[in-house]
Amino acid sequence: MDGAVLVTGGLGYIGSHACVELVRAGRRVVALDSLANSSAAVAERLAELTGRPLSFVHGDVRDIGLLIRVMREHGVDSVLHFAGSKAVGESVGRPVAYYDNNVGGSMALIAAMHGAGVRRLIFSSSATVYARGGAMPLVESSALDAGSPYGRSKLFVEQMLFDLRASDPAWSIACLRYFNPVGAHPSGRIGESPRGVPNNLVPFIAQVASGQRERLQVFGGDYDTADGTGVRDYVHVLDIAEGHVRALDYLERDGGGCVAVNLGTGQGVSVLEMLREYERASGRPVPYAVAPRRAGDVARCWADASLAQRLFDWRARRSVAQMCEDSWRWQCANPDGYR
Ligand SMILES: NC(=O)c1ccc[n+]([C@@H]2O[C@H](COP(=O)([O-])OP(=O)(O)OC[C@H]3O[C@@H](n4cnc5c(N)ncnc54)[C@H](O)[C@@H]3O)[C@@H](O)[C@H]2O)c1
Repeated sequence: MDGAVLVTGGLGYIGSHACVELVRAGRRVVALDSLANSSAAVAERLAELTGRPLSFVHGDVRDIGLLIRVMREHGVDSVLHFAGSKAVGESVGRPVAYYDNNVGGSMALIAAMHGAGVRRLIFSSSATVYARGGAMPLVESSALDAGSPYGRSKLFVEQMLFDLRASDPAWSIACLRYFNPVGAHPSGRIGESPRGVPNNLVPFIAQVASGQRERLQVFGGDYDTADGTGVRDYVHVLDIAEGHVRALDYLERDGGGCVAVNLGTGQGVSVLEMLREYERASGRPVPYAVAPRRAGDVARCWADASLAQRLFDWRARRSVAQMCEDSWRWQCANPDGYR
């Protein structure tokens, strides 16, 4: 592990937590970010958390020349690729922008890695690549069929990476399929900083608990689940970050291959269960109203996370209570995120 790790999207929500965990594991890190959905303040907070300045490059992952230069200058031998656009709803209205950033960005990165002689890659994939309506838990061999341009962009990149590895055994690649990353660093210094109305449940609940929003809209109260609300597999963002450190160790140890691996807890939690847990953590009421189901949502979705345990010796360790406590600490200390 002599080389540096390039973290694209390294100032984003998950990428920033991965930077902390990589440094903690003794890795040299270079973060690259366009700041399209993040803030330069994150670099300062990462320096504060890790006790050393962060090598940060402000740039776009689609800039092949820049990427090659950065990889050569810093002696990069592995890449964690978080950079991309992530809002499922927005991707329906702006599909080409999503394919450009997510597929085009990944293609540019691969070209740059090729140019710089770097062949080890961890790609941020998502549980949205799985077909709807399948049996739970989702295993990596479950049917794939993404339901949105965002999900398809992840699926295309995964398939491209499998083809790439089949054509050239020098590559070692892991596509990590995250379920629902939530929470924040326990220091309260880095966390999720949504712009505008949060797309995800926990940041929305956080803003209701803090009084920034009046009430939570619960989409669907008549699902075939214990309390009628949708059930998801929420996983602490630091567990996700640790999963990347373990996956990188695995790729270095076991060499080649291209694997797709779920990162989830294996436990389903309903919207109302999460809401109650958040009320406990914050000591605040979270008013809510049940609204009609949202098109495209499934009743339940959770991971079989045993492959990550077998391959990387990784398992999510943090409880739903910790997810809520860490989210609340972040929310209280940073009511406007990084702004
Ligand atoms: N958060 C989730 O719920 C979730 C779930 C599954 C998968 N993912 C994937 O994980 C990755 C990270 O997600 P996140 O939640 O940290 O999102 P995020 O938006 O917080 O982080 C992405 C980062 O990439 C940067 N970026 C975007 N386009 C770029 C480009 N062209 N060049 C350089 N930087 C660019 C953004 O500024 C941002 O800092 C994404 O690829 C996302 O699709 C996220």
